[in-house]
Amino acid sequence: MNKKILVTGGTGYIGSHTVVELQNKGFDVIIIDNLSNSKIEVLDGIEKITGKRPEFECIDLCDESQLSLFFKKHSGISSVIHFAAYKAVGESVQDPLKYYSNNLISLINLLNQMKIHAIKGIIFSSSCTVYGQPDKLPVSENSPIQLANSPYGNTKQISEEIIRDTITAKQLENCISLRYFNPIGAHSSALIGELPLGVPNNLVPFITQTAIGIRDQLMVFGNEYNTPDGTCIRDYINVTDLAKAHVIAVERLLKKITKKNFEVFNLGTGTGVSVMEIIKTFEKVSQQSLNYKIVQRREGDVEQIWADTCYANKELGWITEISLKDTILSSWKWEQCLRTKHTRF
Ligand code: WQD
Repeated sequence: MNKKILVTGGTGYIGSHTVVELQNKGFDVIIIDNLSNSKIEVLDGIEKITGKRPEFECIDLCDESQLSLFFKKHSGISSVIHFAAYKAVGESVQDPLKYYSNNLISLINLLNQMKIHAIKGIIFSSSCTVYGQPDKLPVSENSPIQLANSPYGNTKQISEEIIRDTITAKQLENCISLRYFNPIGAHSSALIGELPLGVPNNLVPFITQTAIGIRDQLMVFGNEYNTPDGTCIRDYINVTDLAKAHVIAVERLLKKITKKNFEVFNLGTGTGVSVMEIIKTFEKVSQQSLNYKIVQRREGDVEQIWADTCYANKELGWITEISLKDTILSSWKWEQCLRTKHTRF
């Protein structure tokens, strides 16, 4: 099996953890990233963990000519895992055009190059946000795609449609779309992890930055939702568990054991956890209290969502293994390592 894989957005949060797991399984990885939301030093962390530095080119997928040169230079790519996209729900509400242009143009350019170079399969980094606010929980892959609650979620819905149509037109053979719930945590080595540049949009990095003193206080966006403690509920999945699902998916693609040419899997733990429960779990594992206050709701937030993981568990033979406690602890360890002198980020 040709094990040369292109990973777009491979220095990013989920991308870098997936590169580690791919290399652990003997895949030969090449990364494209424009470093708009990550740092080149992530390659050092990957190399320290796996002993192998992935090939890397700093390319913006929205730059068609740059991308075309890349594919001319790098033959023999067996398939692509496409992470490169902006992904903050809240930010996408403030700046929709940034999200539509970046997330869609980059995908279209990539698919065009895959067509030209006869690269037949793609693993697409999708999101549970395609389900909007589900009427029924937990959410399965057959749950209706609802009007997205944010431009970010909408770019994921439109991207899946673009890929489906490309397959229908026989300009692409296969896609496995992985709909993530809420990825959190860091690699157990604390050598790579979430690296939000600027003010974090996501809950867990904001918590760890507040606890370490970078942020003054965590704002909890609303506590009057129709949930047990009034705060929003999400399905928080460990990033290494999530990364391992990508390796299984790309092997499925390469071994041609997919059941349909467009497959979808929900990647979550199957358990819903509230914002307050995350805060309490953090306080327990870090043994320090967190400074937070309740403020108004954030535009674009859904009230509650968590995954029905039966299909992914059965079909992929994959299940999450790392507990919420250990995952939150890994985020805290990573934050502490980030702020010590030896980590050059
Ligand atoms: C979680 C909860 C906030 C920050 C994420 C990713 C998105 C997609 C889905 C993969 C919400 C609350 C947050 C803060 C808070 N994943 N919160 N204070 O919005 O569910 O989206 O998962 O594709 O890419 O962004 O995650 O971490 O921003 O919010 O109270 O400072 O935490 O209101 O209820 P979200 P999040």
